[in-house]
Amino acid sequence: MSLGGKVAVVTGAAKGIGKAIAENFLQNGAKVVLLDVDETTAKGLKKVLDQKFGEEKTLFIRCNVESEEDIKAAFEATMATFGCMDILCNNAGILSEDQWERAVSVNLGGVIRMTYAALEKMSQQSGGRGGVVVNTASVGGLGPLASCPVYSATKHGVIGFTRAMAAASTASNYGIRFNAICPGAVQTDLFASVTNCLGPFSHLAHLFEKFAADGVLHLEGSAFYTKSSGKRGRFTQGKTCIIFLPGGRQTWLSVFWSW
Ligand SMILES: NC(=O)c1ccc[n+]([C@@H]2O[C@H](COP(=O)([O-])OP(=O)(O)OC[C@H]3O[C@@H](n4cnc5c(N)ncnc54)[C@H](O)[C@@H]3O)[C@@H](O)[C@H]2O)c1
Repeated sequence: MSLGGKVAVVTGAAKGIGKAIAENFLQNGAKVVLLDVDETTAKGLKKVLDQKFGEEKTLFIRCNVESEEDIKAAFEATMATFGCMDILCNNAGILSEDQWERAVSVNLGGVIRMTYAALEKMSQQSGGRGGVVVNTASVGGLGPLASCPVYSATKHGVIGFTRAMAAASTASNYGIRFNAICPGAVQTDLFASVTNCLGPFSHLAHLFEKFAADGVLHLEGSAFYTKSSGKRGRFTQGKTCIIFLPGGRQTWLSVFWSW
């Protein structure tokens, strides 16, 4: 499906899953606003994307999802540059059981702050043209991850917030669809550093390693693949992820639609 004419805002876009989401939007014709705190990596990515898709297709803005001021400025710059926004991907996230207040503030607080600010631009009730919000939760939001309880709690919170916002959107005619994706293990920097970030649950690192041993997805551009099967999945239409795993074991990236 073509996303020509659509404008997508992606948080945590400099690398990992956010980068894959951004690249997929670009491949499908959307313009993308890349938000991240990591300026160096994001600027490097923008250069690569400029060569591939054209300079006018992306905008990088340094934005910490913990800061309402940053978020407001990012949305103002988005409107000034592209005139509208249709898709918001709340993807930025960290895993830190040591700095758990920060994990709550980024993973759950960031999704809430971004969503509230986006409503002012996107909601049909505020003169916006509606659209889609996609929140990156986790399988850790569907069931308990014993080695990282706070991370698991934030992702349960993201799923609950997504469901409630979907209901609020229907009841209030925002014209916005709310979805959450729930990835399993994906080979990114966050994933690679998990066992160093477990804080008081470091003694349970083996449980995480066991979870990861069940299957890790690798990113290549906007595609996911499993090393064992070589089969690929892709973000499609900015709304779902299709993943193939050997032996039909499990769906690792599930998608919640608006209830
Ligand atoms: N990798 C996995 O196995 C996995 C599994 C399930 C869910 N997730 C979720 O996917 C999302 C992306 O994770 P990833 O694995 O790609 O991680 P990553 O570390 O590769 O990328 C995360 C990006 O978010 C940015 N970021 C961090 N804090 C930020 C903040 N306060 N404001 C703005 N940007 C910020 C980082 O700079 C980085 O570019 C996260 O929400 C994560 O919880 C990841």
